[in-house]
Amino acid sequence: MNFKMLSVVSAVALAMPTLGAAGPDDDTLIINEEIEVVTKAEPAEHLDGALYEVISGWHFRNDDTQAIEMDDFDNPGMLGVENAMATWNTAEGSAGKSCADCHGDAAESMKGVKATYPKYDEKAGTVMTVQMKVNECRTERMGAEAWKYDAGPAIDMEAMIGSQSRGMQMNVAIDGPAKPFWEKGKEIYYTRYGQLELSCASCHEQNYGNMIRADHLSQGQTNGFPTYRLKNAKLNGAHSRFKGCIRDTRAETFSPGSDEFIALELYVASRGNGLGVETPSVRN
Ligand code: HEC
Ligand code: HEC
Repeated sequence: MNFKMLSVVSAVALAMPTLGAAGPDDDTLIINEEIEVVTKAEPAEHLDGALYEVISGWHFRNDDTQAIEMDDFDNPGMLGVENAMATWNTAEGSAGKSCADCHGDAAESMKGVKATYPKYDEKAGTVMTVQMKVNECRTERMGAEAWKYDAGPAIDMEAMIGSQSRGMQMNVAIDGPAKPFWEKGKEIYYTRYGQLELSCASCHEQNYGNMIRADHLSQGQTNGFPTYRLKNAKLNGAHSRFKGCIRDTRAETFSPGSDEFIALELYVASRGNGLGVETPSVRN
């Protein structure tokens, strides 16, 4: 823990253990005794030595929390996946169509989607998240209303789509037309926010493995999003997580679905390139 972090942490009277860093554990993640997930990988070139290994947040949780993610019957996030599966097959909107009418079996058509999103979209001329693509289908192809960002049905659907890529390795593109969006996300990642003057990197790059408020700091990876959190007992979107993290620095924050968070999601996803998809992961 560096000095800046220490002074900041004591300033807000967070309980800091005097023990040294407890690193990630060496457990192996296999879901349903079937899906092997890569939870430690070589850092992408763009990380340029900032991390010597990229590590899933799963390694920083205790054994009980880890176990819940390893079995779909125990994983409460799978209830959201099931809800979305029902939605997938239900016709909605003025066109009288369901997702399945066009996309068929989600296990086939949505496999690999999470691993490459957020992604630059030619037609839209911007980077789009999975939730944005779903809303595009709803408003432009179904004649249905857009879902609110990171809320109930949108998050369930994102989790269901993400779950079709479990075990595949994250591989978002950051070159070509995606580059300026990625650069913007990177800038946000390293900007110090709030009264505490902390950036994402202050916690998730420089202090992962350390304890903060009895919480074991991870690298803040998104390979498991949407994530079921035991703390609020629901599926949480990446943007809502970013918002919570920025709020913890006592800063004004961006909104889920904002351009800033879309760019940040792309950048954070690229820091996890190589990690296996865990959606819906389980965290505290
Ligand atoms: C009328 C047909 C139609 C319906 C209904 C429809 N979609 Fe789509 N969807 C498409 C087409 C066509 C594309 C490709 C368009 C593009 O990428 O520009 C697409 C793209 C997508 C993508 C991006 C996939 C990728 O590989 O990048 C997702 C995710 C998606 N749809 C989800 C849904 C969901 C969820 C629903 C139901 C809520 C739905 N769609 C309903 C036609 C449809
Ligand atoms: C004051 C320290 C702090 C800062 C600054 C911070 N976070 Fe976090 N973040 C946490 C803690 C604590 C957790 C929960 C434990 C963990 O997974 O690290 C967390 C969790 C996360 C997770 C969930 C990881 C998982 O495996 O589910 C993501 C993603 C994340 N943060 C991203 C960010 C981003 C992006 C920023 C910058 C906008 C940021 N955080 C800033 C402390 C911080």
